[in-house]
Amino acid sequence: MAFDIDVATHDHISDILYIEKTIESGYPATRQTLADRLDMFPDGFLIIKKNHQIIGYIETCIWYVQSFSTYLDICEFSKLHHLNGTILFVIFIGVDERFQKMGVGTLLLNELKIRIKRKYPHIKKIHLVSKEQYVNTFYKKNNFHQIKRLPDYMPGYSGMLMEYQYGVHPTDGRRIVQKQK
Ligand SMILES: CC(C)(COP(=O)(O)OP(=O)(O)OC[C@H]1O[C@@H](n2cnc3c(N)ncnc32)[C@H](O)[C@@H]1OP(=O)(O)O)[C@@H](O)C(=O)NCCC(=O)NCCS
Repeated sequence: MAFDIDVATHDHISDILYIEKTIESGYPATRQTLADRLDMFPDGFLIIKKNHQIIGYIETCIWYVQSFSTYLDICEFSKLHHLNGTILFVIFIGVDERFQKMGVGTLLLNELKIRIKRKYPHIKKIHLVSKEQYVNTFYKKNNFHQIKRLPDYMPGYSGMLMEYQYGVHPTDGRRIVQKQK
């Protein structure tokens, strides 16, 4: 399967929103929220396409924030986003349900790691808050380790703060070949 990864543009927002609504039934982002995140940090908002169709995306910001407890503490990302920060924070990663577990999320994460380090070499680590089912599966496989449980992260579910450190893993800087299906 051939995939293309690129930075998102406003023309992509409708397709991203469609995927967001199908995979994030609890708290889907609105069109305006996605557009604001794109304007905030275009280099950190990637899409992945297969045959010209968007099948996944990842949104990020850069900050200095080391500690927080709930989503409410951090949800105004644009106020916390500073390009000089040393932490890349993944706000959300999503893959169209029809293409999950085929290596697409891993491709997106790897491309993000490479692009961000190339353009923002001062970034030392990547943080994100994982849902329970991805802690020891998707993120562990992608070299993230557990930092701290956040029991009240969102109403109704806890999260796990996860960290990826640049320079520690042998696959750093290499593009991983996607799975054949
Ligand atoms: C999380 C997500 C982006 C992963 O994308 P993906 O393309 O399915 O991931 P990959 O195919 O690269 O998966 C790599 C590994 O992650 C694990 N994994 C992926 N999806 C999983 C799932 N739903 N449950 C458990 N493990 C999963 C598997 O261990 C897989 O490795 P394997 O195929 O060798 O077993 C995708 O499942 C998704 O969009 N989920 C819904 C949106 C969401 O909740 N995003 C926020 C996550 S905190």
